[in-house]
Amino acid sequence: MTVGRSKITPYKQLDLRDLFFDQMRSVGAVFKKYEGKDWLEKAYYLFDITAGDMGLDKKTSPRIFLSKLLENEGFNFKVFLIEKNKTTFSELKKNVMNFIKEIPLIDERRYFRENVNCILGNNNKVLVRPEYLNGKHKWKYGLVYFDPNGFSYETWDLLSDFLGRWKALDVIMNLSAAANKRCINNPKTLMHQGKRISHFIDMIPKSKKFIRDCYSGDQHQFFMLFCTNWADYRICRNYDFIDLDTYEGQQILERLDQTKEEKCR
Ligand SMILES: C[S@@+](CC[C@H](N)C(=O)[O-])C[C@H]1O[C@@H](n2cnc3c(N)ncnc32)[C@H](O)[C@@H]1O
Repeated sequence: MTVGRSKITPYKQLDLRDLFFDQMRSVGAVFKKYEGKDWLEKAYYLFDITAGDMGLDKKTSPRIFLSKLLENEGFNFKVFLIEKNKTTFSELKKNVMNFIKEIPLIDERRYFRENVNCILGNNNKVLVRPEYLNGKHKWKYGLVYFDPNGFSYETWDLLSDFLGRWKALDVIMNLSAAANKRCINNPKTLMHQGKRISHFIDMIPKSKKFIRDCYSGDQHQFFMLFCTNWADYRICRNYDFIDLDTYEGQQILERLDQTKEEKCR
């Protein structure tokens, strides 16, 4: 059984696949254009920081990422699959090993079992060591995928710090607006303190943000975000991602921010 499934999942996975293929093509074009430059590490970095178990479903996020990366010969990559649940992590590891068994290994791969908080937040870990992002090859391209089964508030400060340091990493998020709304007026969620989705989106240190509204009929109101520092990034309109700097984008955000009671006022 794959973790975190709902009736919207197949749509979400298609959006993820299309977006990822698009983004990877753009990174490939950068690698070609700047081939041989000192500042560039010609390896695609992929962080699936809430990876799940990879399940039997062909469209789980680690499968989407790994199959595409593996089929692109000559494209070096480094994959970090992070999953906090011990049982889910051991399933993930087993499934990944089965999946890549027949395919020759191209490059280094690492699996982390720890909670994403200690991966991103512990200074002894390679991902946040300053020298990793300063010396030769300091420009590292790739993608972070954050799909926490709701909202996962405790992760945001660290995620924001990490994405700020890794300037050329783009990020895709799949978040539930309904989960956030439930916390807005709930005194038990002390960490949250009534914060809206727009507050969390502001914390993402990327200059361009695109939003895909939730699908109608989805009680969890899962929406997707794609954020990047590429000023002229062109996202394919076919999959309904709207620039948050536009009126239409702001309208979507407003709807996702407001509770049912506020909408009725
Ligand atoms: C919705 S599922 C991921 C599904 C997966 N992306 C897919 O496409 O099949 C969310 C997963 O994130 C894990 N998770 C939630 N918070 C986490 C954290 N702070 N660090 C690492 N993993 C986390 C959960 O244990 C769960 O397995």
